[in-house]
Amino acid sequence: MMASSISNSVSSFAAVAVALISCASLVLGSVEYSPEQEVKALLASEWWSPECLNSTTTTPCKLPGITCNRAGSITRISIHKFFIYGTELGKFLNGSSFPNLVHLDLAAAELYGSIPPEIGTLSKLTYLDLSHNYLSGELPLSLGNLSQLVVLDISFNHIRGSISSELGNLNTLVALNLSSNFLYGPIPSSLGLLTNLTHLDISANQINGQLPLSITSLTHLMEFDASYNAINGSIPIHIGKLKNLQLLFMPGNRLDGPLPSSLGQLTKLTTLSLYSNNISGSIPPEIGKMTNLTHLDLGKNMLNGSLPSSLGQLSKLTALSLDSNNITGSIPPEIGKMTNLAHLDLRENMLMGQLPPILGLVNLVDLDLSVNMFDGQLPPEIGYLKNVKSLLLGDNRLTGAIPSTICDLTNLQYLSLSRNQLSGLLPSRLENLKKLTSLKLSSNNLMGPITPSLGGLRSIQDIDLSYNHFNGSIPIEICSLSVLTSLDLSNNLLVGEIPYKLADLVNLATLNLVGNHFNCCIPCSLEYTIDAEEHLHNSSCLLFHANRPSTGIINKVKLIIVSTSVILASSFLVLIIWAMFFKRGCKNKKIKSLDETIATKNGDIFSVWNYDGNLAYKDIIQATEDFDIRYCIGTGGYGSVYRAQLPNGKVVALKKLHTSEVEEPALRKSFENEVKTLTELKHRNIVRLYGFCLHKRCMFLIYQYLERGSLFCVLNNDVEAMELDWKKRVNIIKGIVNALCYLHNDCTPPIVHRDVTTNNVLLNSELEAVVADFGTAKLLDPNSTTQTTILAGTYGYIAPELAYTIAVTVKCDVYSFGVVALETLMGKHPKEILSSLPSSSTQNLKLIEILDQRLAPPRSRLAVHNVALVASIAFACLNADPKRRPTMDIVSKQIAEHRKPLADHCFHEITIGHLMNPLVLCIDG
Ligand SMILES: *[C@@H]1O[C@H](CO)[C@@H](O)[C@H](O)[C@H]1NC(C)=O
Ligand SMILES: *[C@@H]1O[C@H](CO)[C@@H](O)[C@H](O)[C@H]1NC(C)=O
Ligand SMILES: *[C@@H]1O[C@H](CO)[C@@H](O)[C@H](O)[C@H]1NC(C)=O
Ligand SMILES: *[C@@H]1O[C@H](CO)[C@@H](O)[C@H](O)[C@H]1NC(C)=O
Ligand SMILES: *[C@@H]1O[C@H](CO)[C@@H](O)[C@H](O)[C@H]1NC(C)=O
Ligand SMILES: *[C@@H]1O[C@H](CO)[C@@H](O)[C@H](O)[C@H]1NC(C)=O
Ligand SMILES: *[C@@H]1O[C@H](CO)[C@@H](O)[C@H](O)[C@H]1NC(C)=O
Repeated sequence: MMASSISNSVSSFAAVAVALISCASLVLGSVEYSPEQEVKALLASEWWSPECLNSTTTTPCKLPGITCNRAGSITRISIHKFFIYGTELGKFLNGSSFPNLVHLDLAAAELYGSIPPEIGTLSKLTYLDLSHNYLSGELPLSLGNLSQLVVLDISFNHIRGSISSELGNLNTLVALNLSSNFLYGPIPSSLGLLTNLTHLDISANQINGQLPLSITSLTHLMEFDASYNAINGSIPIHIGKLKNLQLLFMPGNRLDGPLPSSLGQLTKLTTLSLYSNNISGSIPPEIGKMTNLTHLDLGKNMLNGSLPSSLGQLSKLTALSLDSNNITGSIPPEIGKMTNLAHLDLRENMLMGQLPPILGLVNLVDLDLSVNMFDGQLPPEIGYLKNVKSLLLGDNRLTGAIPSTICDLTNLQYLSLSRNQLSGLLPSRLENLKKLTSLKLSSNNLMGPITPSLGGLRSIQDIDLSYNHFNGSIPIEICSLSVLTSLDLSNNLLVGEIPYKLADLVNLATLNLVGNHFNCCIPCSLEYTIDAEEHLHNSSCLLFHANRPSTGIINKVKLIIVSTSVILASSFLVLIIWAMFFKRGCKNKKIKSLDETIATKNGDIFSVWNYDGNLAYKDIIQATEDFDIRYCIGTGGYGSVYRAQLPNGKVVALKKLHTSEVEEPALRKSFENEVKTLTELKHRNIVRLYGFCLHKRCMFLIYQYLERGSLFCVLNNDVEAMELDWKKRVNIIKGIVNALCYLHNDCTPPIVHRDVTTNNVLLNSELEAVVADFGTAKLLDPNSTTQTTILAGTYGYIAPELAYTIAVTVKCDVYSFGVVALETLMGKHPKEILSSLPSSSTQNLKLIEILDQRLAPPRSRLAVHNVALVASIAFACLNADPKRRPTMDIVSKQIAEHRKPLADHCFHEITIGHLMNPLVLCIDG
């Protein structure tokens, strides 16, 4: 919600900085300098290649990112956003090499190591940006010697230690940003000396202690962000002196004491957030003087007293959150004047009275009044809130019927009226709520039939009508709610048949019908749930359709409970769906352990079916004529792969263990591992597992069938290899990057594939890459920095560090990816190059000589660019030092951003040596 104000702040930050700096550089003259020293320091950075430095005549002034003064001495270095690899900051700033440097921008340059004390020798520096790097260690005291500094940004690093009081010497500072480090200890009171400061950001550290009183001397301050630290004590009573403050952002601290009334003097303030502190007392009426406020968040504190009517003066307010406090009384009518209000959150207070005052807020989008003591009826005027998307009024004391005007809220997505005392019928025009995804009316006194108009809720995912007095039967229309995932009609007075078509709701994961008076037994279509126990004993292999392809989240195994009146009133028939209702999709979801996801019986069978049909084991047997050799399309390290065309025409691939191999615990383990990993993954560049059978007599996995087979086979067939032109090859590499990036970054814990080879990259009919074979994949435990395990992988692709360590990290996959990428460009495994990389004869090889000679060299500007980019990324990934390999995340960004690695006209000149040190080469001009 702060996004807009923060982006404004960034641009104003930049504007201030630029204005001041350009003045500064004009004023300053050049002092004595040594050209050799400057060149030496540039070379030490390893950002520019020695060749480049030599070819730019005698001075480095023409290098990209460098600016010199008239005397030829370097005044600005800005390599922000260049295509470079990290270096140790200490190497670059070794000795006092840049006496005339005014502007140093090394943001996002993958710097590591600590900030060396030599930084203090850059005595003319006015602008220093080291943000978004991996710098560690403490802030050097010598920073305090940069007496002309105007902007200092060290945010997003790993700096530890306390904020030294020497920073108070930097009295020219206008912007100070130390956000997102590991700084701790108190804010030194010397910061109060930085009286020209307009922007101060110390957010997301571990800073504690009280706010120093001296902070109120920073009268130019426009933005102060100290959010997410451990600052305690009370807000200085003279905070009102910071008259220029526009943003005061301190959520997630331990502030206590009352809100000082001097806050009312902050008339320029637009954003005030003190969310999640321990602030007590009542909201001072002076708050109404902050008329520029657009965002006010005082949620999750210990505020009491009633809402001051002066709040109504905050006519620019768009978001007001006072949730989770102890605010009492009723909503003052003046609130109705805040006509710009879009978000109002008063959840979890002790508010009472009736709702009318808020009904004038026609711009409301989110309204949350849950868990209060509001009473009275829902007035028909609720229909005026035309923009409302989320209307949460649960856990109050509302009475009367639900007004039918609620059906006029056509933008509504979430409606909760649960746990009130509402009575009467469901409104009849529910089908108007086309965007509604969640409808919660549980625990009221609603009655009458469940209206068929419910069937018009096209977007509904979650319906909870439990604990009411609904009667009649379940309307068949419910069976057409195709995205429904959860339906709770329990504890009502429903009768009749349970519609068999409920089984058509392919996304339904939870169904609760308990506590009703249905008069039939279980429809056949739901019958697959029944005696799973029995099947587990008898069948050799059990395949049943559990969950179907879906887009949602992972669900736990659900119980479906249906009560019937045929069976003794008190007894429930409990149907356990053995089939796993887990939906695939990894993004931000925890990967479960095997035990959680897979039901085992006597240790020898478990199965899941994630395919869209009523497929049975016998179909598989028929389709392959009991795994006849004619259907075999390959044999791998273990087992064979078959192609099976199912009766519905769909083709799948089956990987089956040979009978002798089934006895082998290691192979079993690898099969189980593959199931465990793949059932959780959903990504277009990762092979889909449709189902599996793990049983002594038949052990097989069922996958998506990839028409073109493995990348290895395609590259080794001259005809097919020619079909893979440069564009397709680059596209294949991008697909692999996407898959690995997803495994490493979007899954929690991250998954390391451990066997990335051209054999395990399959191609679909469009020649897009799909990563397969997860038999050796490993989940990385986030609590341990490295994982040890037995060596796995394929010779020729294994990262070199695994020769002397058994630590598995995502960087092992990065290395293997480097091999695969290079192999894709070369058309064959790069073994000779890999074994002779350090030698200069290999480094002198031209890129164009090692590219697949069956294809003409890339010609179009784009192809040339892409091949060079992919080649330089491949070599970066092949770095022997895992720490210096990029992460897949970085690789993916570099590809996506089309960073310019090399000048087009140099393509024929590019050597492996260049690619291994992809510095800012001689870029055009
Ligand atoms: C620069 O060029 C000279 C002569 O061409 C050579 O001797 C020297 O080693 C080169 N320096 C670097 C750093 O490559
Ligand atoms: C700084 O330079 C000295 C001598 O030139 C060298 O011994 C030292 O290793 C360098 N320090 C770093 C961090 O590179
Ligand atoms: C700051 O500069 C002064 C004078 O140039 C010097 O004596 C002092 O050691 C420097 N301080 C640090 C911490 O580098
Ligand atoms: C503070 O800013 C003002 C106006 O920009 C300037 O004149 C003054 O020199 C600055 N103070 C310091 C200590 O740099
Ligand atoms: C501090 O830096 C971060 C990222 O560089 C930026 O998002 C933030 O707005 C900066 N803070 C200030 C006060 O400018
Ligand atoms: C609101 O903010 C603007 C710009 O910061 C300022 O000019 C104006 O005086 C403020 N309004 C009040 C009532 O202070
Ligand atoms: C609200 O007040 C009650 C007692 O009046 C207290 O027990 C409770 O902790 C308070 N809750 C909050 C969030 O301050």
